[in-house]
Amino acid sequence: MSPKDIPNDIPVARRTARLPVAPGRPLRGILLGALALTALAAALTLAFPRVRDLLSPDPIAGLAARRGADGRLLGHFPYPELHADKLVTVAPGLQVHRDAAEPLLAMQREAAAAGVDLRFLSGFRSVALQKQLFFDVKSERNQSAAERAKVSAPPGFSEHSTGLALDLGDGSRPGTNLKQAFEDTPAFTWLERNANRHHFRLSFPKGNRQGVSYEPWHWRFEGSAEALELFETARRGG
Ligand code: DAL
Ligand code: ZN
Repeated sequence: MSPKDIPNDIPVARRTARLPVAPGRPLRGILLGALALTALAAALTLAFPRVRDLLSPDPIAGLAARRGADGRLLGHFPYPELHADKLVTVAPGLQVHRDAAEPLLAMQREAAAAGVDLRFLSGFRSVALQKQLFFDVKSERNQSAAERAKVSAPPGFSEHSTGLALDLGDGSRPGTNLKQAFEDTPAFTWLERNANRHHFRLSFPKGNRQGVSYEPWHWRFEGSAEALELFETARRGG
């Protein structure tokens, strides 16, 4: 038999034919695949809240801004509102987290002993109040959201809502309240030298990586495990 006469292993008709497919198989495969993908997406969004945040629509009504991969919105990290039963009053109309109260008052007493009149200007702020401060002032000043966020956190993203952050002033220089000129006061000089001992830290120093404007008056308490945990991301990114 010459090589020409040897039959092919696989007849031509078989080689070109499609594999026989059981009717209904591809559809079932597609359905199963889609089901598996849906289950995977659901599991991921449940296991990783950040995935959910990234997929969700704008987090704040009226604010056309989305959160970044690290959870930030316009530079600010998200913070939960402190439950009312953890709030204590440290000055008329001013409340803070109960863990921060005694260290704060001790810091004020120590400053007073050194001749420094440390004043508390703003402490805990509810998310509802932060909403007013953000949007109402934004309107008054005709600011864009990004401009407003340089000096004020959007609601749900302010350290003040944790009860652990405060705006501090100098009673001998009230004209510097909430102004960068506060850095030239005896209170600020004293805080720079002593606040660490009371576990208070400047949240928004010059050139902070959050891109928030320099706020020499805004200090946060990091003297508890809860506070350290809450501000962990800000410490790394701020
Ligand atoms: N002023 C700071 C950023 C706040 O609003 O929380
Ligand atoms: Zn503040």
